[in-house]
Amino acid sequence: KEYEYILTSKPDPNVTLITLNRPKALNALSNGLFHELNHALARAELDNDVGAVVLTGSEKAFAAGADIKEMKDKEFADVYGQNFLSHWTQITEMKKPVIAAVSGYALGGGCELAMMCDIILASPTAKFGQPEINLGIIPGAGGTQRLTRAVGKSKAMEIVLTGRNITAQEAEAWGLVSKVVGEGEGQVVKEALEMAKTIASKGRLSVMAAKEGVNAAYELSLHEGLHFERRLFQSLFATKDQKEGTTGMGAFAEKRKAQFTNQ
Ligand code: HXC
Repeated sequence: KEYEYILTSKPDPNVTLITLNRPKALNALSNGLFHELNHALARAELDNDVGAVVLTGSEKAFAAGADIKEMKDKEFADVYGQNFLSHWTQITEMKKPVIAAVSGYALGGGCELAMMCDIILASPTAKFGQPEINLGIIPGAGGTQRLTRAVGKSKAMEIVLTGRNITAQEAEAWGLVSKVVGEGEGQVVKEALEMAKTIASKGRLSVMAAKEGVNAAYELSLHEGLHFERRLFQSLFATKDQKEGTTGMGAFAEKRKAQFTNQ
């Protein structure tokens, strides 16, 4: 077996599915798990056939947080000296889109991992939360930052300060997740794979540019962001996919589906 803590597959030639697989620990995010996840992500990023990735857990837990048992005896010198958790952010460096398909618990680092993905789909059983406050710590991988940007200050404060879990329905109403799918085992993964397939059918370069543009909205002023967007937009006119998609000799004019070559 290639990995110990995750499973990988390609349910579609153009989509990688990564499943967190530490069922006995509710997918607690251990060091070993993260190394494997990073390895699988890097492989998907390099695979020319792959246009999108789906990250999921089990029905009971997407991930119940950082591995508390691994973390509990660490001292400041350990966590600071070894820059604890710095390898958690590799997923945010992906150019290809990553969809989180969340069932059950997405708590602490699990919620933060979902928020590092580009789109979150939730099953009706999903529960999101930042319970770190109950452990005498605070979120350390985006729970005070990405969550605040996603749901605003008041709701982020409530979640982070009380440590209570929110339901899938609340998460959708608050804009944390893009959709709560219908009931049924496996439904959230099924819909995430469909969405990933749709994204993978588009031109790879324009998908990457679009993702870069949306992410820039979190970093830049509106003026700079719009400038960056326009430059990205203009740059796509250097691609074959733009010619195929929009020009007189391309798919739109000929009323057919575009055949993108990712060039
Ligand atoms: C290590 C964990 C774990 C975790 C669950 N387990 N969460 N182990 N780290 N985060 C283990 C349990 O110890 C138990 O192992 C097994 O998984 C099943 O869990 P139970 O508690 O028996 O299940 P249940 O009663 O259904 O309760 C589910 C739960 C609860 C509500 C999700 O497990 C829970 O509260 N977990 C901790 C959630 C949490 O605090 N997450 C934040 C972590 S801090 P055994 O061996 O006993 O069977 C964090 C910081 C990140 O994420 C900051 C930087 C990124």
